Amino acid sequence: MNGVPVATKPDPLQPNRAHVIRVQRLPLEINLFQLRFEDEELNLSFDFKPGQFLMLSVIGVGEAPFAIVSSPSRRGLIEIAVRQSGRVTTALHNLKENALIGIRGPYGNGYPIERMRRSDVLLLSEGPWFGALRSLRWYILDNRKDFGQVTLVATADDAKDLPFGDELSWLGDREDITCRVCRPAARDAEGQDHMARLIAGLRQTKFVAQGTYAVLAGEPAHFPPLWDYLLERGVSKDKILFSLQRKMRCGIGKCGHCSIGYKYTCLDGPVFSYWDAQNLPEVI
Ligand SMILES: Cc1cc2nc3c(=O)[nH]c(=O)nc-3n(C[C@H](O)[C@H](O)[C@H](O)COP(=O)(O)OP(=O)(O)OC[C@H]3O[C@@H](n4cnc5c(N)ncnc54)[C@H](O)[C@@H]3O)c2cc1C
Ligand code: FES
Repeated sequence: MNGVPVATKPDPLQPNRAHVIRVQRLPLEINLFQLRFEDEELNLSFDFKPGQFLMLSVIGVGEAPFAIVSSPSRRGLIEIAVRQSGRVTTALHNLKENALIGIRGPYGNGYPIERMRRSDVLLLSEGPWFGALRSLRWYILDNRKDFGQVTLVATADDAKDLPFGDELSWLGDREDITCRVCRPAARDAEGQDHMARLIAGLRQTKFVAQGTYAVLAGEPAHFPPLWDYLLERGVSKDKILFSLQRKMRCGIGKCGHCSIGYKYTCLDGPVFSYWDAQNLPEVI
């Protein structure tokens, strides 16, 4: 070497150091984690779209993807809601406040918020998936004048048993959003009654289909009756959106673990449209 500095690219898999600031227990054994980078500048500059995810590493255990449930309109703290399911999530649930973790991202496409501006939006969630639309919901409410009519329909046996279900009561009090909570008749593992109730709730709202974005959160296998109803009403195929979870490793399109047909969930998703679902038969 002749002493000329060699330019090195930052390693895209290198996480940033961050800390768990607060842990809050939510229903269904989900923990809400508030996270903050060590680097103050990064806390202020970290930007993302609702619907994007991050890769979180628990030191010495491993790494996993988690959707960001806070809104980019509220900078400084990043929030994720995690259900204990395996090695990484168990280790994360065991961490104490102030514990060191690693974060890289944000990754994925997120919801097309630029295209959604000035449009009406339907936010439709099945039971425990209510929390999955929290980032988008807050983003829209924080930028309320940029969107048309906003209609939220959620199914819940009892809102207080849902993660973030307490938010439904103040959402119901707002005048700039139509909010319906529908109680399914009985617990049904197939989700048929949840979907039937969602559709019944939607019928009561008299939404205008033309130009409307419908964002669905639920078990994808339960979607077909809701898709059929939205299409019948005239919602455009490319404006029916939902988020998918696939096993991921790198999060940046390198390992191939998350492929669906010719698409990578980490790059082309996790947000897909009904149109994608038609062209990618492995979606549900
Ligand atoms: C884009 C994206 C966003 C996600 N957001 C969240 C979130 O906000 N909150 C949350 O709790 N989890 C979320 N997940 C799922 C989470 O990343 C996985 O469950 C992860 O594997 C947990 O790691 P683990 O080591 O604890 O469990 P593992 O030991 O990896 O797995 C535990 C169990 O979960 C199953 N599993 C693993 N990955 C998935 C998956 N992607 N979908 C369905 N089942 C899976 C495994 O087969 C196993 O049975 C998300 C996944 C993706 C791809
Ligand atoms: S997670 Fe590696 S390609 Fe998507």
